[in-house]
Amino acid sequence: MSQPPASRQVCADCGESFPETDPRLRCACGGLLELRHALPPSGLRDAALRAHFDSPIGPGRATTSGVWRFREMVLPTAVDVVTYPEGNTPLLRRPSVTAYTGASELLLKHEGHNPTGSFKDRGMTVGVTQARRIQSTAVACASTGNTAAALGAYAALAGIPALVFVPRGLVALGKVAQILAYGARTLLVRGDFDACLALAREAGERLGVYLLNSINPFRLEGQKTIVLELLQQLDWDPPDWIVVPAGNLGNTAAFGKALGEARDCGLITRLPRLAAVQAAGAAPFARSFQEGFARRHTVQPETVASAIRIGNPASYERAVRAIRDTNGVVTTVTDDEILDAKAVVDASGAGCEPASAASVSGTRRLIQEGVIRKRDRVVAILTGHVLKDPGVVTQYHQETEPPPRRANRPIEIEPRLAEVERVLSAEPPA
Ligand code: F0G
Repeated sequence: MSQPPASRQVCADCGESFPETDPRLRCACGGLLELRHALPPSGLRDAALRAHFDSPIGPGRATTSGVWRFREMVLPTAVDVVTYPEGNTPLLRRPSVTAYTGASELLLKHEGHNPTGSFKDRGMTVGVTQARRIQSTAVACASTGNTAAALGAYAALAGIPALVFVPRGLVALGKVAQILAYGARTLLVRGDFDACLALAREAGERLGVYLLNSINPFRLEGQKTIVLELLQQLDWDPPDWIVVPAGNLGNTAAFGKALGEARDCGLITRLPRLAAVQAAGAAPFARSFQEGFARRHTVQPETVASAIRIGNPASYERAVRAIRDTNGVVTTVTDDEILDAKAVVDASGAGCEPASAASVSGTRRLIQEGVIRKRDRVVAILTGHVLKDPGVVTQYHQETEPPPRRANRPIEIEPRLAEVERVLSAEPPA
């Protein structure tokens, strides 16, 4: 096969364009960059492109990665990719969760099944592949935990030193454990995520480390495959809605780009609507949405869902475009609603971290409000694994007083059969 044409990096604000190996993350005008590929790839479109992606054989197609299967729409020129593999996450049907939301058809795209337990692996395989290609000597990110865990793992795989900036005391235990275990140099910053990101951006510009936050356009190309893969799993028959938790807005932006490109290449003929869900205590994007995106807000964030505890989202502009282009909506859910939805997802056996449950909780709210119609087909994204945040789980089930409605209190007993019998004969919890 002939070498595919190189892609360009284009400033979303002024249109200036740079080669795909240019390491800068920002245009001189201050705008963020995005990748533009030669699409449709090799002139393939519509059914021919669908068949190409559906076929496991053919030149360059032998991959077990759910990201690189779509390489023509991710990074066509990539060679020597840094991959676990990742992706190929399940689309789950859980009747108890469907009933909870009031939807007639709900599927859960469980990104917690990725190698480090969150969707971040999809962006990181592309970001670290690019870091190696441009011969970065070190990679870095600011993070509420998952990005840092993914960076640590993929940097270890590539043999590149990793530096992470995380807000001290605000990262869930499972994520801290992963970051340390994978060997990233870990800076506990006395500040929140927004302060970490500002510092990491400065370090990226001044100290020569390659920044792999979602402002990096290569990360977003990988995250697009959440959408491409779910469309493929549905035989390219799009759902009516895709519901996603929203913090720094990288995913919201990536989803909008994926859907636009999928339509332009004829992979789909109809656009699903995007619903971005924020925690009520960390909802600057929802506030802007209510005002028709008249202006950008920042807030002092506070929420139990530490992954999305973000007050100044970096991908704001491109997420606005994603919501506008898909006739989407932005909504909020309270911490109590997040914990309640999480308990339902967990008890279904699927399990997820608190931020992920925002998509289920948001689906329920949007159905109650009549925004999502009961007969609509909905895919909700579960962004991270249940073991990411064991602290919230034990707090909810063992320590909160009075016990929340769905608490599964453990029962302490003496080592005697009579005590087991007593427990078995008691009323099971509702
Ligand atoms: N869900 C989880 C589990 C996350 O870790 C994140 C973001 C989001 C949702 C929100 O996605 O930022 O693209 O809007 N986590 C980042 C991190 C901030 O550092 O791990 P977003």
